[in-house]
Amino acid sequence: MTGVIKGTGASVPSRILENKELENLVETSGAWIQERTGIERRHIAVRETTVSMAAEAAAEALKEAELQPEQIDMILVSTMSPEEIMPCTACQVQREIKASRAVCFDLSAACSGFVMAYVTACAYIEAGIFQNILVIGSECLSDVTDWSDRGTCILFGDGAGAVVLTAAEEPGYLPSIYSDGSKGEALTLKSRQNHNPFGKEAPGESQGTSYYIEMDGQAIFKFAVRSIPQAIEEVLQKNHLHKGDIQYYVLHQANERIVEAVAKRLGEPAYKFPMNMKEYGNTSSASIPLLLHEMKEKNMLKSGDRLVLAGFGGGLTWGTAIITWK
Ligand code: UT7
Repeated sequence: MTGVIKGTGASVPSRILENKELENLVETSGAWIQERTGIERRHIAVRETTVSMAAEAAAEALKEAELQPEQIDMILVSTMSPEEIMPCTACQVQREIKASRAVCFDLSAACSGFVMAYVTACAYIEAGIFQNILVIGSECLSDVTDWSDRGTCILFGDGAGAVVLTAAEEPGYLPSIYSDGSKGEALTLKSRQNHNPFGKEAPGESQGTSYYIEMDGQAIFKFAVRSIPQAIEEVLQKNHLHKGDIQYYVLHQANERIVEAVAKRLGEPAYKFPMNMKEYGNTSSASIPLLLHEMKEKNMLKSGDRLVLAGFGGGLTWGTAIITWK
């Protein structure tokens, strides 16, 4: 028994921010961004929120799965840009879509979050605990971007992607998921804290600053290019599969050069690595479900296709999972 994807959905804000516009904010050029990252534009929330995008993507996925909201047993949202810490985004999505029976919680694993949430949902299904699970990646990264830092503000975009997983009498695959907390400082988004009266300082607030994503871009680049091919080789080996058994590798959309380097290291052709960061930028945990949804909409996927999902990012965290398309 495992979970199979019965529906997908996506939602992105209507405001599109072109590379050219960033030239007015920081010392950069549209051409540099395009050449070094593959990104040409991204969608930025004006009225949309982490919850509204997640709920819209979820509703679309439910429709395709032909399930009523009350049939959902669990909602799992991966996000590092929630509107509120409490209640969690998953509970707010539950309220919006009226999935009254679902148990809801968020999962925080940065850009690996969707893979971690997908694997967690499969484990609940494989254990026989739940039948129908909504797995969502939703991010409003424009809220947590330092718009004066050219090393990060050129990269990120907002959006959400969702899948509905349903229990099926099919064998599942073992995932390969990892963390290395000792290297966490390479990519951070620190939370605001009030001081307590027992001697703890209020980081940042005393200097009148708030916190945004900070990143050692080159360190993350090298980490991704080294760890992802290794994790893909491992997940294939674990499941007694070969590269020839895989139709597509659906990687986190951080940088076109990272995806190309992973393809090269694996000795796999570029066409097996679809990309859409050109249109959306890096949407963290939304990038994989957004791309999956787009591939489905473009009729790229047929029943029985095997895909490898691969995420990497803050934590550090990274991981791969294999799915068979419905
Ligand atoms: O979602 C998971 C987490 N994020 C990632 O996976 C991101 C991984 N890292 C990257 O994608 C890349 O490292 C970046 C796109 C962030 C940076 O690209 P890079 O090719 O690694 O650039 P760099 O940091 O090596 O900088 C090269 C040059 C430097 O100038 P000098 O020292 O050679 O004169 C930078 O100052 O480019 C300069 N530079 C820029 N120039 C124009 C850095 N950022 C910019 C910019 N516009 N935005």
